[in-house]
Amino acid sequence: MAQEDVFKKIVSHCKEYGFVFPSSDIYDGLAAVYDYGQNGVELKNNIKQYWWQSMVLLHNNIVGIDSAIFMHPTTWKASGHVDAFNDPLIDNRDSKKRYRADVLIEDQLAKYEEKMDKEVAKAAKKFGDSFDEAKFRETNPRVLENQRKHDELHARFAEAMESNNLEELKQIIIDEGIVCPISGSKNWTDVRQFNLMFSTEIGASADSASKIYLRPETAQGIFVNFLNVQKTGRMKLPFGIAQIGKAFRNEIVARQFVFRMREFEQMEMQFFCQPGTEMEWFNYWKQYRLAWHQALGMGNDNYRYHDHEKLAHYANAATDIEFRMPFGFKEVEGIHSRTDFDLSQHEKYSGRQIKYFDPERNENYTPYVVETSIGVDRMFLTVMCHSYTEEQLENGSTRVVLRLPEPLAPVKCAVLPLVNKDGLPEKAQEIVNDLKFHFNTTIEAKDTIGKRYRRQDAIGTPFCVTVDGDTLNDNCVTLRHRDTMEQERVPIAKLREIIEDRVSITSVLKKLDVK
Ligand code: GAP
Repeated sequence: MAQEDVFKKIVSHCKEYGFVFPSSDIYDGLAAVYDYGQNGVELKNNIKQYWWQSMVLLHNNIVGIDSAIFMHPTTWKASGHVDAFNDPLIDNRDSKKRYRADVLIEDQLAKYEEKMDKEVAKAAKKFGDSFDEAKFRETNPRVLENQRKHDELHARFAEAMESNNLEELKQIIIDEGIVCPISGSKNWTDVRQFNLMFSTEIGASADSASKIYLRPETAQGIFVNFLNVQKTGRMKLPFGIAQIGKAFRNEIVARQFVFRMREFEQMEMQFFCQPGTEMEWFNYWKQYRLAWHQALGMGNDNYRYHDHEKLAHYANAATDIEFRMPFGFKEVEGIHSRTDFDLSQHEKYSGRQIKYFDPERNENYTPYVVETSIGVDRMFLTVMCHSYTEEQLENGSTRVVLRLPEPLAPVKCAVLPLVNKDGLPEKAQEIVNDLKFHFNTTIEAKDTIGKRYRRQDAIGTPFCVTVDGDTLNDNCVTLRHRDTMEQERVPIAKLREIIEDRVSITSVLKKLDVK
């Protein structure tokens, strides 16, 4: 099945099984805004819990905060977001559709890559085992021609972006003959800069109201609280402050479901350290964060680092952790060494001294910062993309199963009375009443047992417990495992131990090695 079709299936599965709904669905939705349903919220909460505990519980020197979404407007002047948090936009006059100029050009680059890949795939099919891909790419005239066009475009594009040359971006679009995907026309406006922050007004009357922004990242709430936390918590460097919260960006090209949203959630941690030690911590966090992802068992090959060559002016190192989505390797998380830029900027704009007094060195200085920043929704998407599986069974039927990492599953255990009578529902409820204190347990009595198994498979429930007539005599149940569909007879008294061991967040946390 084409990867595009797989992705469409994942999106509709999310809606059908109560994971993600379009926002305000009865009004036909709101672009790039989504609601999480009864199963989605559980999965999302488990992701957040895993992240929070790995940061705040496993690291003695990391504490959490929960800062407000609204912040003093000067915050965003100091951070650079008012002046520089922009995307280059272009409109098509015929379709009246708006695009990001850089995305149109990136799509064009991807087209050259696709053309080359197609040539390679065709040749690989023709030559079979004797095919030497590297040699083919070096010598085939059509591949070489597309590679040349790609490289020239890439160099021109990078230079235009670096020098913020909007006329050149438009010229590239014209020279490449890029057309509007809707109207098919080349009737483009000029390219303009567009700030991604949403603004609103705070204040009771129109006269006294002033413009404020919805935060585009949670990080600034941590920077402005650096002194509050350091002093009240008597924190010594190095130490970190973690936060989970909503962020808002007026994304122009909102695509790929919850990958790029206008309202989303971030899990960010700012790690404050002595200047000169930041590269050591950058490397520590780079490795720790990858280990965090890998501990979930979603395949080490599905992750890669993407080190940034071109750094923001305040950063001295940056890398992304990318995950193999159905639409290619994509950024899930960023790790950035941000020097003392943010604290210094806030010192300058607030007029307050924001320094750390180091008792060992007997001096004041501005700490350096290493940031880890991951989107909850993107993490959610990696988990869904990895887990969605369609299986052909021996009897010829198809099973859709979400092979979720067990500790992240919304429901850990479903208790199913074989029939909805003869005291079985009551016995099942008794089991639920005990297990529900330890992990998310549900009861389902309607429909055939086969249909109920399928429904639980589709939401990724790792364990089903079937209560039958014998249970009333021997206090044993049938435990069914989601991935293997294997069934075993176990005493009710053992259920908690067997299941808890596999589904607790602690079981993944234990795989993480903390310095
Ligand atoms: N404080 C640094 C910062 O915000 P970023 O690379 O802009 O850095 C960090 O964002 C992470 O937030 C990304 O790696 C991604 O997971 C998530 N993210 C950013 N924009 C997003 C959007 N529009 N929709 C969903 N997630 C987003």
